[in-house]
Amino acid sequence: MTNKTFHHWKKVVDEDNIAWLHLDRENANANTLSSEVMKEFEQLLEQLEQHVYKGVVILSDKKSGFIAGADVNEFLDMTDEDKAFEYVEYCQSLFNRLEQLPCPTVALINGFCMGGGTEMVLACNYRIAEDELKTRIGLPEINLGIHPGFGGVVRSTRLLSPLAAMDMMLTGRPLSARAALRIGLVNYVVPDRHMVNAARKTILHRPRPVKAGMIKKLLSHRIIRPLIAQQMRKRVMKRASKAHYPAPYALIELWEKYAGSSQMMQQEARSISKLIGTDTAQNLIHVFFLQNGMKETGKESPFKARHVHVIGAGIMGGDIACWCALKGLTVTLQDQSPERIAPAIKRAARLFRKKLKIRHRVTAAMDRLIPDPDGYGLKNADVIIEAIFEDLKTKQELFKKIESAAKPDALFCTNTSSIPLNELGSVLENPSRLVGLHFFNPVEKMQLIEIVHDKDTNEQVTRDASSFATQIGKLPLKVKSSPGFLVNRVLMPYLLEAAFMVQEGISPTLIDKAALDFGMPMGPVELADKVGLDICLSVAEILTSRLGGEIPDILHDRVSSGNLGIKTDRGFYEYRKGKPVKVKAEGQSITIITIQDRLVFRLMNEAVTCLREGVVDGEEMLDAGIIFGTGFAPFTGGPLKYLHTLKLESQKKRFEELNSKYGGRFVMDKGWEKLLC
Ligand code: NAI
Repeated sequence: MTNKTFHHWKKVVDEDNIAWLHLDRENANANTLSSEVMKEFEQLLEQLEQHVYKGVVILSDKKSGFIAGADVNEFLDMTDEDKAFEYVEYCQSLFNRLEQLPCPTVALINGFCMGGGTEMVLACNYRIAEDELKTRIGLPEINLGIHPGFGGVVRSTRLLSPLAAMDMMLTGRPLSARAALRIGLVNYVVPDRHMVNAARKTILHRPRPVKAGMIKKLLSHRIIRPLIAQQMRKRVMKRASKAHYPAPYALIELWEKYAGSSQMMQQEARSISKLIGTDTAQNLIHVFFLQNGMKETGKESPFKARHVHVIGAGIMGGDIACWCALKGLTVTLQDQSPERIAPAIKRAARLFRKKLKIRHRVTAAMDRLIPDPDGYGLKNADVIIEAIFEDLKTKQELFKKIESAAKPDALFCTNTSSIPLNELGSVLENPSRLVGLHFFNPVEKMQLIEIVHDKDTNEQVTRDASSFATQIGKLPLKVKSSPGFLVNRVLMPYLLEAAFMVQEGISPTLIDKAALDFGMPMGPVELADKVGLDICLSVAEILTSRLGGEIPDILHDRVSSGNLGIKTDRGFYEYRKGKPVKVKAEGQSITIITIQDRLVFRLMNEAVTCLREGVVDGEEMLDAGIIFGTGFAPFTGGPLKYLHTLKLESQKKRFEELNSKYGGRFVMDKGWEKLLC
């Protein structure tokens, strides 16, 4: 029997008198718990409360996954604390009613189950997850500057070990189906074909739910809690300051004060309602939309690759090939000899073991990555990625050789970090097919790919390249072929300013502290050492030769004396066991604020110039690129969003002060006036 009065839900009652609640949010690719979806869920609950069913199963009719969470669009209207509280309490009341239904309830989790989705399944008696790689279950609210609010904190810390539950919420990291099983978040993990049957059997046989063991209870004891909370705070402090990211601290406090108490549910609602209106949360929500905006650009073309051919198996080409194979593509990897390909294959084995864990999946990924010293794969590939030495002539030679062998509709990509597209493409019969796919190092960690185009690039090719980037799980950012593209160009003045300061005798520890205090994920001195001072110098030389500017002598000196950073155990810092030795800064006359101004102004000034020159399409894409390419303090919403909080006159004055004191590098770009008028 089917009930057809809903837009987003469908209730089907089967011959065993089990009610199956299918969620399929209307006009949406993914299920989210919008207020409309929740309203209908309330009506469903009324029906479930009025009839006696053998059991209730909640499942998704979307192939994309179960439930992606609450509808983040609605968070933007919740800046009023009382309004937010009212809505959160309403949602809590629905999940409480779900929990109190007299019959057993089961959630069938396919694909992603996030945030509000996880909070909903926590209110069910049983959770069954599909045994697939794409299954991901989590409470990632912390990434939006909030914490779970629909009872997720109460229920997860009650059901699981509080350490596991808090870790899941504090990191925001989603779990695989098997990891969720291990910590007791789901009861069963079964293949897709057994899901429905598993739900039915669970309802008919009602296995006894596992009760919290002694240790779990002990960890939540009011005497132990403050000790654990203190440890949690210490760990959080290493990653995020309370001033910039209040949510993890609020979450720890909530658990520490109220775990096990009848007030906890209401306090959870109160705490999230306070957080959601903060600048941090609203900016992080903005960043979430920026990220979605980048993903959307990948949907402008239906292009899908099956086979990728990578030429150059060095640091970048090798890792790009591994990544594409990890993402399910067939990859042929070419270099000058098998010996040059071997290290990449070794790295791939390590990556696949880490990410895929199960042996047959690792073997399948290894099978997809094919060493191809003779370049046989070239002619069949849908995407060809050149990642050989950064040398114009060598790259041009290669392009001349391979153009006619490639399929006419294959994407022709270069990973160059500095050579203009028109110079590379000048040797091609058809330069309009050449596009830059600028990956960042390390490929495994960096989400962004700059999609580099120029006036000759066919627009469809740019769209196809963006689609390919999203296919392999990365974020595409369209940038104009110009020196340094966006990310390196904006980052370099910031790194060079840090080097100038070291040259002036300012302690690297203090410079890095100032950047961390501002909200950067890593200080610029440590970052330069990590990237390699030789690479920094080479990029700086390319950029200054084309755009002007100076390079501090200290950078030349360090490189010529072989102190290249972490890779040589000495750069600006000395390294012991891979960690920088940070000497306490003493007797420094410069203030933290001045260090921050010098670093951040140079970065923002370059960003404003890039915007004015049209390197990227608009302010939002620029902010997105800089956050995802450099890690620029996400709680600010990006450099331009931050810039809009400043006053033009005081900034002008500050630029002039810095310029007269530190020698000509602080000339305000004319774009500021337009942005701050
Ligand atoms: P690499 O020096 O580690 O590797 C280059 C590889 O290309 C070597 O294995 C070499 O044998 C191979 N090669 C050279 N000529 C070849 C040819 N004709 N046919 C086949 N293979 C050939 O270089 P890396 O660092 O991987 O850089 C590659 C490209 O990626 C460069 O264009 C670089 O600018 C760019 N890039 C580098 C980044 C980095 O952090 N290293 C970041 C982003 C882009």
